[in-house]
Amino acid sequence: MSEFVKIVEVGPRDGLQNEKQALTVEQRLNFINDLINAGLKSIEVGSCVSAKWVPQMAQSDELFKLLPQTTDVQFSLLTPNIKGFETAQAVGCKEVAVFTAASESFTRKNINCSIDESFEKFSDVMSAAKAHNIRVRGYVSCVVDCPYEGAIAPEQVVKVVKRLYDMGCYEVSLGETIGTATPDRVQKVWQACLAELDSKVLAGHFHNTYGMAIANIYQSLQQGIRVFDSSLAGLGGCPYAKGASGNVSTEDLFYLLSHMGFETGIDLEQLMQASQNISNVLNRKSLSNYANAYWQTKCA
Ligand code: HMG
Ligand code: MG
Repeated sequence: MSEFVKIVEVGPRDGLQNEKQALTVEQRLNFINDLINAGLKSIEVGSCVSAKWVPQMAQSDELFKLLPQTTDVQFSLLTPNIKGFETAQAVGCKEVAVFTAASESFTRKNINCSIDESFEKFSDVMSAAKAHNIRVRGYVSCVVDCPYEGAIAPEQVVKVVKRLYDMGCYEVSLGETIGTATPDRVQKVWQACLAELDSKVLAGHFHNTYGMAIANIYQSLQQGIRVFDSSLAGLGGCPYAKGASGNVSTEDLFYLLSHMGFETGIDLEQLMQASQNISNVLNRKSLSNYANAYWQTKCA
């Protein structure tokens, strides 16, 4: 039997948070239903953050209430503080994600506090999550470069990753937020993390600004990482990381993994349909190389 790689689809959150055009709750729900049909089992559906900061993610709680009642898909919401957690918990969310960074400046721009202060906020989230039996995932942004501080030392990254894990996050996703990393630098970050933590609790979250995301994922696979975040059609970016473009596309990730013999649970045709649908809704060409090649070949 082939080895399984878990894909965490972040398109409805990371993908849509950076779009100029805010989609309606109905359009967001259709997108998520397409992802479910394509076989994605972990889907980040939105964020419980300030609508003044990220208007595209407003009404994520309303959206959550409309999700299909399925037990085999893990839906999650981003929650930076207890207010966000309470919003998520009130709509029955069973997994939340807290997010900080390995860079002080980015943390300040993104969530308006220092790294230490972010952990104070997460400590409240963690206690409440334990009490309600809700899983908490952790994110660390800027694991290679920061848009404000430049290169970040792997030792600094490990400190924050370990702190999240020790606090109770079941998995920590390492965000290569601005997509500048190359595999040699990614190798060093994993090497440092793997000296402290098991690969099973780590995930890779690669943005593709310089077209390096797939190369970085290949590097990560070599070092034993088996969980990756991706976004359909390569949507995404962080409003607080100027110039950063989308995540690795789910389609390209699927292509790499399936050709390397990994199991993902994804249905290719449904994935391509979902990809085409969201590109139509947003009225632009997909950023996925594989999706574009697939449709070109199909229509030839
Ligand atoms: P703040 O202004 O410091 O918070 O924002 P505050 O506690 O001073 O409150 C100010 C106002 O925000 C108040 O409302 C609060 O009620 C409200 P007002 O009285 O002015 O009407 N507020 C909230 N509203 C809704 N939900 C909440 C919440 N908390 C306070 N949870 C805050 C702090 C974190 C809220 C703000 O900075 C924020 O919303 N930031 C947006 C962060 C974000 O969504 N960033 C993008 C996602 S992270 C990412 O993309 C990186 C990642 O993909 C990995 C990678 O690629 O590296 C994960
Ligand atoms: Mg991201």
